[in-house]
Amino acid sequence: MHSFDVIVIGAGAAGLFCAGIAGQSGLRVLVIDHADKVAEKIRISGGGRCNFTNRDAGPANFLSENPHFCRSALARYTPQDFIALVQRHRIAWHEKHKGQLFCDESSEDIIGLLLRECDAGGVTRWQPCRVAEVRHGAAGFECDTDRGTARSARLVVATGGLSIPKIGATDFGYRLARQFGHRIVETRPALVPLTFDGAVWAPFAALAGVALPVRIATGPGKAQGRFDEDLLFTHRGLSGPAVLQISSYWRPGEPLTIDLHPHGDLATSLRQAKAGSRRQLGTVLAEHLPQRLADAWLQGVGQDGHRPLAETRDRDLQTLAQRLHAWELRPSGTEGYRKAEVTAGGVDTRELSSQSLESQRLPGLHFIGEVVDVTGWLGGYNFQWAWASAAACARAM
Ligand code: FDA
Repeated sequence: MHSFDVIVIGAGAAGLFCAGIAGQSGLRVLVIDHADKVAEKIRISGGGRCNFTNRDAGPANFLSENPHFCRSALARYTPQDFIALVQRHRIAWHEKHKGQLFCDESSEDIIGLLLRECDAGGVTRWQPCRVAEVRHGAAGFECDTDRGTARSARLVVATGGLSIPKIGATDFGYRLARQFGHRIVETRPALVPLTFDGAVWAPFAALAGVALPVRIATGPGKAQGRFDEDLLFTHRGLSGPAVLQISSYWRPGEPLTIDLHPHGDLATSLRQAKAGSRRQLGTVLAEHLPQRLADAWLQGVGQDGHRPLAETRDRDLQTLAQRLHAWELRPSGTEGYRKAEVTAGGVDTRELSSQSLESQRLPGLHFIGEVVDVTGWLGGYNFQWAWASAAACARAM
């Protein structure tokens, strides 16, 4: 029997960060992970450069059935705290877009940071190592693993979500939560491309590769989820930051509304261009939209793009503009966990302490990171939640 103060299951962002802090506070910590490689999701994140936090991260950037839950942890471990740590480790970084911070060189820098923090805390890591069973009794938690049984007073579950199963994602954390009586908020792929039925999408399939800035919205009153970002047409549907963001809010059966020309009044622009103009409708529209989209759109609504703008009725221009400002369409589904960056839903936070991420059902049991029902927007927010929830948990032990 191997004895520790804390066992952390999952050597990803949250698990390694928690282990390092707990180890450095004097606790004997074991981290167990079944994957061959450590922190594979960090490695592939941010296109290989890890968008490790967002300067502006706050509770409003997260989805949860219990929206205030994340407040405490986020307030006590801020993006500035993680930036200071990155600087202490002499990792070069830059800001890209809307507060998103990336490594200059490689995601490996963040993995190196986490492993050095674990080394500084004398953390033991068993990897690859499978956990067959977890029990709780008078002596605390016991984990039966490939390397024998390990015992501890505290168990931290940091096994992440279901996204990208081919690099090690499993439902282990949810099963363990259920084993100890916890409720799971239904999980679903989030930050994921959206797909459309073949027939509905046929007119747009040829637009694969076309990208443009849009305003996108879904949800009751359209106020709940609304983003100004870039949209990308794909062979099967829509992707790009705008669609990944809105996918976290989208529910099956609901429509999306997309403003394809969010920074200006298209009706006015078209009417103004009409005065004394000999140009064609398609040419003028392509000054406001990518040419391929303008052509496909006019064809779809039965308008002749070669027609002189001057001969197009104001009423038709008005209708055309209205539709482009409020394109309503209904996705048939998502690309699923295979392509989703994160999993929405998870361990119900109403049964966890927001201070320590500890179970209110079983003292000593903690859930941190993505396995919890807290899901961030695209842009470094999910890593910030991993760091903040890990720090809150480790400091409370
Ligand atoms: P994480 O998934 O990091 O770690 C969980 C660990 O548990 C894994 O090592 C896994 O092997 C292990 N595990 C699972 N089941 C187990 C079992 N049964 N036994 C033992 N171990 C088990 N976020 C962001 O903020 N910025 C970004 O740039 C990106 N980019 C990005 C790109 C892509 C392609 C993806 C898929 C995701 C992102 N994300 C992101 C999201 C981010 O990667 C994610 O939210 C965090 O890694 C979550 O951290 P966790 O530690 O909770 O889980």
